[in-house]
Amino acid sequence: MQNVLIIGHGAREHVIGESLVNSGANLYAFMSSKNAGLEDLSNGRIKVHSETDFKEIIDFSNESNIDFAVIGPEAPLVVGIVDALERNGIPCVGPSIEAAQLEGSKIFTRTLLEKYKITSNIKSKSFKSMQDVESYIKDLNEENIVVKPDGLTGGKGVKVYGDHLFSKRDILDYCQALVNQKASFLLEEKLEGEEFTLQTFVDGKNVIGTPLVQDHKRAYEGDTGPNTGGMGSYSMEDHLMPFINQNDINLALEDIKKTVAAVKAETGVKYKGFLYGGFMKTAEGLKLIEFNSRLGDPEAMNVLPLLNGNFVDICWSIINGNLSQNFNFKNQATVCKYLAPEGYPVNPKKDQQIKIDGEKLKTIGAKYYYASVYRENNNIYTTSSRAMGILGIADDLQKAEQIAEEGVKCVEGQLFHRKDIGTLKLLQKRIEHMNSLLI
Ligand code: AMP
Ligand code: GLY
Repeated sequence: MQNVLIIGHGAREHVIGESLVNSGANLYAFMSSKNAGLEDLSNGRIKVHSETDFKEIIDFSNESNIDFAVIGPEAPLVVGIVDALERNGIPCVGPSIEAAQLEGSKIFTRTLLEKYKITSNIKSKSFKSMQDVESYIKDLNEENIVVKPDGLTGGKGVKVYGDHLFSKRDILDYCQALVNQKASFLLEEKLEGEEFTLQTFVDGKNVIGTPLVQDHKRAYEGDTGPNTGGMGSYSMEDHLMPFINQNDINLALEDIKKTVAAVKAETGVKYKGFLYGGFMKTAEGLKLIEFNSRLGDPEAMNVLPLLNGNFVDICWSIINGNLSQNFNFKNQATVCKYLAPEGYPVNPKKDQQIKIDGEKLKTIGAKYYYASVYRENNNIYTTSSRAMGILGIADDLQKAEQIAEEGVKCVEGQLFHRKDIGTLKLLQKRIEHMNSLLI
């Protein structure tokens, strides 16, 4: 049996842990806060400590005779956890510090994509001061601007004209605030279209795609309210989206492959692990919004449970550079709904008990993954972030959505979720939006 370490504490790591255990791993978990799901899957072989404390992670790995580690979140990746573990003889599924810049530095990524002429790249320019900011705003046209701080901002730093910025003054003020914080930033063209997530497995050279997923960032139904870490996501039984065809996917995969080759050419380092492409289909074609150097949260919950294949073997082939398409994904639809504490993300009700009817969830066929909740005396309590993901899997979207909704009813507490995620009504709205742009 293989001893496999998962680093991270959220629902994404819970589903990664489940896939590893289902594939025969002896799981160990290192997490900054205790995830009850990972604690159970690891039979208590856990350490709760900062996920960026390399020494503690290496010590725990050595004590536990870890065969390889899977890194869930971006924070340890962008500060070099993979380099540190590998120097100590522990192979990793995750990119090294240089390759993880694809997520860690938006300026690195746009510069790379421009240099290597990656088709889905968009117009952008990087800044460290206010010099030339005004003239670039004029070039792009102020209504067409997105401002992005360079580093990791947990999804909160990006400001889009029309969503967060409403005048040239707003743009300049935000840029000035970033300059004052000594933060570099990008100005880039604002796109309009439908976003989707393409998560891939990468072994340094070979890239294998997984089913497409669409996430929902806004807190409330109808895509209103503040941005969140993601309120839920869906995938379709054909692994596409009604507004994204196989040709789009081929182009997206081609660009991911070219980017992996560009990382190698530019840094000398091979990208290995998971690579998440956040794309938008627009009237002008497919455009890249961002790369993430990991699986998505919630999107990991939509793809890993569909895997027909041994995930431990796939991890080894990512590590060994011999990834091949000897696995596939079930032709089923998935709907994931996140339950969040009432008031999330602005004023979440934390430390509230929630009650989960696990037996009923099982009967319904819904799966559930713990996110930011804690367990005390066998009771589960909320924190200030999303509480748990409920997943429906079925032969079509409608049935998967119903299972997720039925599943949500098995959890009692001061929580809310978006009822519209995965419904045919919302899907139709997306299709109409795309059609209106393509006319
Ligand atoms: P990012 O952190 O780059 O993923 O940006 C967060 C969100 O901002 C994305 O998921 C998009 O919804 C939006 N966004 C980012 N870049 C653009 C862009 N160039 N045009 C329109 N929306 C964008
Ligand atoms: N669902 C967005 C992300 O994982 O970054």
